[in-house]
Amino acid sequence: MFRSVITGCGAYLPAHCVTNDELAERVDTSDEWIVERTGIRKRHIAADGELTSDLAQAAAERALANAGIPAGEIDLIVLATSTPDETFPATATTVQARLGIAGGPAFDVQAVCSGFVYALAVADNFVRAGQSKTALVIGAETFSRILDWEDRATCVLFGDGAGAVVLRAENGVATNGTRGILSTHLHADGRQHDMLYVDGGPSSTQTTGYLRMRGREVFRHAVVNLAEVTTEALAQNGLEADDVDWLVPHQANRRIIDHTARRLGLAPEKVVLTVEQHGNTSAASVPLALDQAVSDGRIKQGDIVLMEAMGGGFTWGAALARW
Ligand code: ACO
Repeated sequence: MFRSVITGCGAYLPAHCVTNDELAERVDTSDEWIVERTGIRKRHIAADGELTSDLAQAAAERALANAGIPAGEIDLIVLATSTPDETFPATATTVQARLGIAGGPAFDVQAVCSGFVYALAVADNFVRAGQSKTALVIGAETFSRILDWEDRATCVLFGDGAGAVVLRAENGVATNGTRGILSTHLHADGRQHDMLYVDGGPSSTQTTGYLRMRGREVFRHAVVNLAEVTTEALAQNGLEADDVDWLVPHQANRRIIDHTARRLGLAPEKVVLTVEQHGNTSAASVPLALDQAVSDGRIKQGDIVLMEAMGGGFTWGAALARW
């Protein structure tokens, strides 16, 4: 039996940063409204010609450096994105080529904002099955390209970015006493399509389309689904909320995050928050937050880390790890 251990993290944000005040020059909004409803203060936007694969590659290279391994050791790449460079091939294969490697599987996973948790679960299962020894899991997005910049209810919420982790196979089952991913929990409910979707695509309109959302309903489902899936993850491992050292949530909205932490009974000091700095980066948000909390020394070896996310579909999930 094998388990996977996260041995490196990396992140990348495009250089160009747009504040709420700058957005308010473009659409009818204000810094006060955005901060009060979401906690977001600014977001990073990819430059013209800067693609999801560029962001992903930068994050991946940093994760490899942090893990202290050469790209040649990677035998699996799973990249979560809803904003791939092209309809096909998978952006994961572009990143693979740029890292100078070939041969192992490389594919994209599409679960919108839950993408990273989905990708982590897929890679963890490859490792557990003995089919990968060293996996690269990336969340990378250029949501700025699918935003309707006339729609103030959505364009203020999102930003571009990428985060990545390296998973290494270690011998032995994951238990509460060992380092590694303890369990992953994935869910979807396709009946909720109309709550959050993109109104275009290769098969339907032959255009890329724009993000459409019923914000209030998404909020309501998010707090319920995230409370349930985090409770499920703890219960499966015989853990209580008190055992959690860090909650690393999907960074969609400060109020959703506060609500989830409150329902779990987690102290606010145990919650990693980055939404203020870069808005909702969809599949990139959990690894961006992980990278920040690992690099600033908050997350330490042995800590219990609870990750969660929810996104269009709806999809939602959680992953519990001992760092
Ligand atoms: N600036 C100013 N006013 C705005 C803006 C804006 N950017 N956007 C909407 N408004 C207005 C609306 O037009 C409306 O005005 P009206 O009362 O005159 O009609 C008013 O604000 C209230 O609009 P609501 O949509 O009801 O506002 P709400 O309090 O629900 O906040 C928000 C909206 C922030 C989107 C909230 O519903 C939310 O956070 N939902 C979750 C959405 C989310 O996080 N999605 C991310 C993807 S899914 C995920 O990651 C979990």
